[in-house]
Amino acid sequence: MAQLDIQPTGELFQYILADSRVAAHLAAMRQLDVNLREHALRTGWIAIEVATHLRLPQQHVLNTGYAAILHDDGKRKMEDAATILHSASPLTRDQQAQIYEHPRLTYLITAGFPEEIRRAAAGSHDWQEHTYRRQHAERRRLVRGPDRRADEHEIALLAQIVGVADQSDALTDPSRRYRRPVPLNKLEAELNKQYTGSPHIRNAALEVMHRRQRIEDHSSQYR
Ligand SMILES: [Fe+2]
Ligand SMILES: [Fe+2]
Repeated sequence: MAQLDIQPTGELFQYILADSRVAAHLAAMRQLDVNLREHALRTGWIAIEVATHLRLPQQHVLNTGYAAILHDDGKRKMEDAATILHSASPLTRDQQAQIYEHPRLTYLITAGFPEEIRRAAAGSHDWQEHTYRRQHAERRRLVRGPDRRADEHEIALLAQIVGVADQSDALTDPSRRYRRPVPLNKLEAELNKQYTGSPHIRNAALEVMHRRQRIEDHSSQYR
C-alpha cells in the first residue's frame, strides 16, 4: 500500500473506494443487497471520521476505513444470504445461527487484504452487547491472532472504532425493516447499552454523528 501524505477524510475515503479490490467487494454486496453496500459505505465514512477525530496515524485511519467497509462482507457467504437479507419476517433459529457466523465469514472472504484489516473487520463485532456474545471467545482469538502478536492493541483499537461506526449507523439507519431508527439525541443512551468498547471511542463517534447532522441541517437550509 502506498504511503500517503496527510489528507482530509473525503480524500482518504475516495482513495479506498478507488482500490479495485474494494470496488469488486462493494459491487458484489450491491448485487446481493443494496442496503448491505450502503451500510458498508456509511460505516466506512463514520469510521474514518472517528479515527481522524482520535488523531490516529494516517495508516491506521486508512486501515480502519478498509475494515469498516468490509466488516459485513461475510454476510454474502451465508448459506441463505439472499433470503436472510431480504426477509421481512423474524429469522428462524437456523438463519439466526448463520447470522452469528458472519464475522468469521468476513475474515475468510477478505483473504486478499492485509491481516490487520481482516482482523479488525471481523473483530469489530466483539464490542456489541448480547447479539454476538455466544461466539465471543472464538472471535477474541481471531482478533488476537494465534501468536498474540505485538500489534494486538492496535487491532483492538481499530476494531472498536469499526464497531462503534457500525452500531452508530445501524441504529440511526431509517431503511432497516425490522426496527425504527434511533433519533440522534437517543444515540448515546443506545450505545451505552450496546457498545462495550472504550467510552473515549464512543464519545468520538457521538461527536462525529452530531457534526454530520449539523452539516446536513445547514446544507438543507440552502436547498
Ligand atoms: Fe455485522
Ligand atoms: Fe454492520
